[in-house]
Amino acid sequence: MKKNCDQDSQLSKQIVKWYLKNGRSNLPWRKNVTAYRVWISEIMLQQTQVKTVIPFYKKFISRYPNLKALSSANEEEILALWTGLGFYRRAINIYKAKEIILSDFKNRFPKSFDDIVRLPGIGESTAGAIMSIAYQIPYPILDANVKRVISRYESVDNDSTHKSNKKLWGLSNKHTPRKNIFSYTQGIMDLGATICHNSKPNCGVCPLQDDCKSAFKVIKSKKETKKQNPTKKINFVLARSNCSFLLFKKLEESFWEGLWTPLELDPNHPLPWKDDIETIEEINIKHKLSHLNLDIKINIYEYEKVFKLKTNEKYKWVNKSNIDKFGMPKPIKSIIEKL
Ligand code: ADE
Repeated sequence: MKKNCDQDSQLSKQIVKWYLKNGRSNLPWRKNVTAYRVWISEIMLQQTQVKTVIPFYKKFISRYPNLKALSSANEEEILALWTGLGFYRRAINIYKAKEIILSDFKNRFPKSFDDIVRLPGIGESTAGAIMSIAYQIPYPILDANVKRVISRYESVDNDSTHKSNKKLWGLSNKHTPRKNIFSYTQGIMDLGATICHNSKPNCGVCPLQDDCKSAFKVIKSKKETKKQNPTKKINFVLARSNCSFLLFKKLEESFWEGLWTPLELDPNHPLPWKDDIETIEEINIKHKLSHLNLDIKINIYEYEKVFKLKTNEKYKWVNKSNIDKFGMPKPIKSIIEKL
């Protein structure tokens, strides 16, 4: 990206000025900035709101404050810290990326955009954010907030088509300043999240109101047209022996990939282990994923002793006192904690 300093766009200058006065400078990843900390925060912030991320980020960073600490973590430990945050592939990708950083980059976070964007879980926007925030080298970003701000400012379509995205990348590039890249990048994200809301943008307090081509225009709320997610029924069977629970590692291609859950079993299918026991409890819960509503039924069977299975699936008897050490979906973990 080649620009002269005095060519920084009006939008970028207004955003920088606004951020320095109004930005959320106390967010934990905006203090003691390192590439490692920015990487972890940007991955957590993909598809997840700031207020949800904060406690997970703090816990992760206190357990793994830097790459050295993370280098010896196994996938299970990383997944365990992700319980409740959702989109578990992100945790698996952090594990894969830190292995690459260890083997190919001497355990130092790479410094070039090309090396960063090749790491698992990092796309062009996340790589741009890391370059701009951690290294203060200007790169455009295009997450959902930035798309909204720029598409409204320029009055261009933001309909997720290839054509619109290409146009928006061009505009994001045009507005990315040479100076103050840290404040600009954080600022445009903050403006999108706190003022340029999806529905009912607060144009009256927006620093871009004089030049924004959509300012004060009524914007139809997306919620009105939002599609209902489909519902999926799932039947689990959970074997229990005293305080141990029989759990299976979910395959990577399904939702809750890589996590430990009870066995998913068709309701008409006989138990794949000894069935000489009464059902002790049936629990029904509903759980929402981003794209799917789950209607979950869990039948719990009590056994005197743990037993072995003849199966190719990866399974474990997990003691209740150890469940924090395993990656588990939040609703499953909550149920086991109560049993
Ligand atoms: N969303 C994505 N990255 C972010 C950041 N660094 N700060 C706030 N919101 C974000």
